[in-house]
Amino acid sequence: MKKIPYQMMAAVLLTLCFASLAHADGKAIFSAKMCATCHSSTTNKSGKPGPALGGVGSRRSKAWLTEQLKNPKTHDPASAMPSPNLSAPDIEALVQYLQSL
Ligand code: HEC
Repeated sequence: MKKIPYQMMAAVLLTLCFASLAHADGKAIFSAKMCATCHSSTTNKSGKPGPALGGVGSRRSKAWLTEQLKNPKTHDPASAMPSPNLSAPDIEALVQYLQSL
């Protein structure tokens, strides 16, 4: 069997590590930023104050969702949703996650 040089193995492992760091995990942000306190990630509201987010990607466009996460007051000045204060890559990851629900 041909041996794989360890430099090659190291390169592959490093690439995998950086790839996973670069892609912030929308699901992890959803729980870390307390979204789940107010929103269910299914179509069942489950008694939470915010709308159920299951299928939200078919109701709202990517641009709309991005705006909602940047500043919820853009769509409703009386919004009860706090501004999540996220970086642009985190917002993008979170929008991707919301579109998958
Ligand atoms: C304190 C409760 C609260 C928290 C925390 C919260 N939201 Fe909301 N959210 C709401 C309410 C209430 C609405 C309904 C519209 C409004 O008031 O802006 C809403 C609306 C939304 C909508 C629009 C849904 C639709 O169908 O129109 C999305 C998407 C959303 N929130 C995502 C999030 C995400 C992602 C987080 C976490 C970063 C989050 N929310 C955190 C209360 C909350």
